[in-house]
Amino acid sequence: MTQAVVLGANGATGRLLVTALLQKGISVNAVVRRRDTLSITTSEQADCKVIEADITTMSNSEWHTLLDGCDVVLSCLGHHLSFKGLFGQPRSLVTDAMRSTLTAINDLAPQQKVNVILMNTTGNQHRGIAEKPPLSQRIVVGILRHILPPHADNEQAAEALRLDGGHHIEWCVVRPDSLIDDLKVSDYRLYPSPIRNVIFDAGETSRINVADFMSALASDPQLWQTWQGKMPVIYNQEKKMKGA
Ligand SMILES: NC(=O)c1ccc[n+]([C@@H]2O[C@H](COP(=O)([O-])OP(=O)(O)OC[C@H]3O[C@@H](n4cnc5c(N)ncnc54)[C@H](OP(=O)(O)O)[C@@H]3O)[C@@H](O)[C@H]2O)c1
Repeated sequence: MTQAVVLGANGATGRLLVTALLQKGISVNAVVRRRDTLSITTSEQADCKVIEADITTMSNSEWHTLLDGCDVVLSCLGHHLSFKGLFGQPRSLVTDAMRSTLTAINDLAPQQKVNVILMNTTGNQHRGIAEKPPLSQRIVVGILRHILPPHADNEQAAEALRLDGGHHIEWCVVRPDSLIDDLKVSDYRLYPSPIRNVIFDAGETSRINVADFMSALASDPQLWQTWQGKMPVIYNQEKKMKGA
């Protein structure tokens, strides 16, 4: 059975991801700061272990214990949309978690590579390919990079995976556009790069669709081969207007 570790498991997307992974028959170690922030239904309990830990203060050996024997690590970590969340510490929450993950996996040197899947944003460019966002977007994102610490954190976390992964991992960075909440998985489209202006013509992506795609990456080897080492962008399929 595939063993997954989910970071940010109680977040708005993380909790949907835990359920999606369990539904796909993947065993989950769900990492949360407080156990009571993640409710697991009785039917999910057998394959889900809730691990209470503060990832910002975990030692190397605690990271080793967390990641020993896992096949896939998925992160839905993000900064809260409050003044403290946006401008307070830890400003490099996601980057530090990715770096600790990479260090621990490379220390453990597992025989099989571990897949690392990071939830990121369309506001971040894939610097490994000739991705050239529109000028208006580049100007605004350039400003955000300097005034909004979570944006810089998302960029640096993806760069850590892309450039410093090491020999024991494969990676995929999933880039949703503006997140919305939906109750059910709907049709969605995947692209290697954004097809819309992220600032002035943003599309929508349901958190539940992000969870569906990330869990599919963890469970479907063919899908993984398609997207590993890439930064897929995910948009909801636009609903047709009546009469159109
Ligand atoms: N909003 C958008 O439209 C949008 C668009 C594209 C991408 N994104 C990205 O999507 C990601 C996830 O979004 P979401 O809405 O699912 O996030 P969310 O509901 O805010 O979840 C954030 C997760 O990070 C954890 N976290 C936050 N601060 C922490 C800290 N100091 N230490 C440990 N854990 C911490 C939270 O745990 P606690 O509950 O314990 O704090 C929670 O599990 C973010 O990285 C965001 O940048 C957002």
